[in-house]
Amino acid sequence: MNSFILPLHGFLRWIVLGLAFWVFISFYHAIYAAKPYTQTYDRLAKFYLSFLHIQLLLGLFLYFYASPWIDFHMKNTEFSLWMKDPEIRYKMLEHPVTMFLGILLSQVGRIWGRRLGINTRRFKIEVLFYTLGLILIISRIPWG
Ligand code: HEM
Repeated sequence: MNSFILPLHGFLRWIVLGLAFWVFISFYHAIYAAKPYTQTYDRLAKFYLSFLHIQLLLGLFLYFYASPWIDFHMKNTEFSLWMKDPEIRYKMLEHPVTMFLGILLSQVGRIWGRRLGINTRRFKIEVLFYTLGLILIISRIPWG
C-alpha cells in the first residue's frame, strides 16, 4: 500500500505547485486587468482546492495507516524525542501540521471568496489566502 500511496502523494506535489502557479498567474492578471470573476476562475480555484484536498486525504492515510516509518515512531519513540530529532520532528509534526494549516488557509479563502459571488474583491481575498497557504505548503515540502 505504502509503495503506491507514498510515491503518488510525492508526485502530486508537482500538480499542486503547477495549479498554484496557474491560479496565481490568472488571478493576478484578472486583478490587474480589472476582470469580472467568471465561472472560469471559479472552476480553476475549485480544481486547485480539490488537489489540496486529495493531498490532505493521502497524507492522513499515510500518517495514520500506510507509512511504516510513521507507524514505527508512533509506537516506539517518545514524544520528547520527536521534538529533539530533526527528521522525526519534521515527518511526525512539521510536515503534517504545516500542510494542514496551509490547506486550511486556502479553504478559508475559497469559502470567503464564494460568499462574495462575482464581486471583483473576490480575486484579492482568494489570492491573499492562497498565497499565505502556499507559503506554508512550500516551506514544508520534502524536496529530497
Ligand atoms: C499540499 C499538501 C502536501 C504536499 C505537497 C505533500 C508532499 C509530500 C511529499 C513530497 C512527501 C514525500 C514523498 C516521498 O518520500 O516520496 C510527503 C510525505 C508524507 N506526507 Fe505529505 N504533503 C502534503 C500534505 C500532507 C498532509 C496534510 C499530511 C498529513 C496529515 C501529510 C503526511 C505525509 C506523510 C505521513 C508522509 C510520508 C512520511 C514517510 O513515510 O516517509 N502530507 N508529503
